[in-house]
Amino acid sequence: MNTFSRITGTGSYLPEKILSNKDLESMVDTSDQWIRERTGIVKRHIAADGQTTCDLAQQAAQLAIEAAGKTPREIDLIVVATTTPDKVFPSTACLLQQRLNANGCAAFDVQAVCTGFIYALSVADKFVSTGAAHCALVVGAETFSRVVDWTDRSTCVLFGDGAGAVVLEASEVQGILSSHLHADGAYENLLHVPGGISRGFDLADTEGDPRYTHMKGNEVFKMAVNTLGRIVDETLNANGMKKSDVDWLVPHQANIRIINATARKLNISMEKVVVTVDQHGNTSAASVPLALDTAVRDGRIQRDEVLLLEAFGGGFTWGSVLLRY
Ligand code: COA
Repeated sequence: MNTFSRITGTGSYLPEKILSNKDLESMVDTSDQWIRERTGIVKRHIAADGQTTCDLAQQAAQLAIEAAGKTPREIDLIVVATTTPDKVFPSTACLLQQRLNANGCAAFDVQAVCTGFIYALSVADKFVSTGAAHCALVVGAETFSRVVDWTDRSTCVLFGDGAGAVVLEASEVQGILSSHLHADGAYENLLHVPGGISRGFDLADTEGDPRYTHMKGNEVFKMAVNTLGRIVDETLNANGMKKSDVDWLVPHQANIRIINATARKLNISMEKVVVTVDQHGNTSAASVPLALDTAVRDGRIQRDEVLLLEAFGGGFTWGSVLLRY
């Protein structure tokens, strides 16, 4: 008999410190009204000094493990999606494994920026559905505020910190129905942090500070809308499903206007779209599991409902997971 994988627990965590649109008005030339109208964001959470991506990941992971009724010792795979790891190495997944006392199992990070959690969930599904793992912990966690230039109004209003996690277990019932991953490195320079360990951070060819996020917002916006529209069709066609078969859209939380456009493409009412971007801005790899956990815990998402998870991010990368919760 085929083994399938199914989500059995979710968790999420947002750091305590809140940065509101009003707060940003005193930092850069912006307004609460502009940010709300152009992005839908009302506030974002910022990790405290010394609080790391692994700290956020640990909180979310513990809640997911608890919700699944598991103990850390039963976890046999840890995949962490992050763009903002604590250390160059070891991976944040290894640091998390040690924190959780889940020693011995495979643990690694994946890097696909805002699409990171979709990539990580897809990878974990491959492990579980082939029998290579039975109980995987999949986390999206970011301290994205550390790679934001807080004097650049075109980017700093958009991002925040957070973490989300799921436990994915072997199951006779098919939870994950399909996953679809894509990337096109030709768009490297539209959304990137130019500096890095290998290139260094003292770069003559870069306008602005190479330590921080550079983005051509308008071009990213158009690409995101078009690409996410295409992936809706690709995902439904692969499963022989109709738009009306999807109970919930759980999108990457970057901008309410991008989310609205994908919902229109799916012909789904906004009541069936999980929106949390207003509460925490774009938390990159954390945003999809944060939204998922929110709607599971408040009772909107019910067992056996069909969910379409999707994301778009730097690379460019984009992808989707269709699942029966
Ligand atoms: N506050 C006030 N004004 C701002 C501003 C801010 N924070 N940021 C930019 N502006 C100004 C611009 O300077 C521009 O002024 P001008 O017309 O005088 O030149 C004007 O607002 C419009 O800028 P534009 O960039 O065309 O706005 P937009 O409608 O495209 O919205 C984004 C900007 C960033 C919100 C939008 O492009 C976006 O969301 N892009 C995708 C970002 C994203 O999701 N990235 C992550 C993908 S994972």
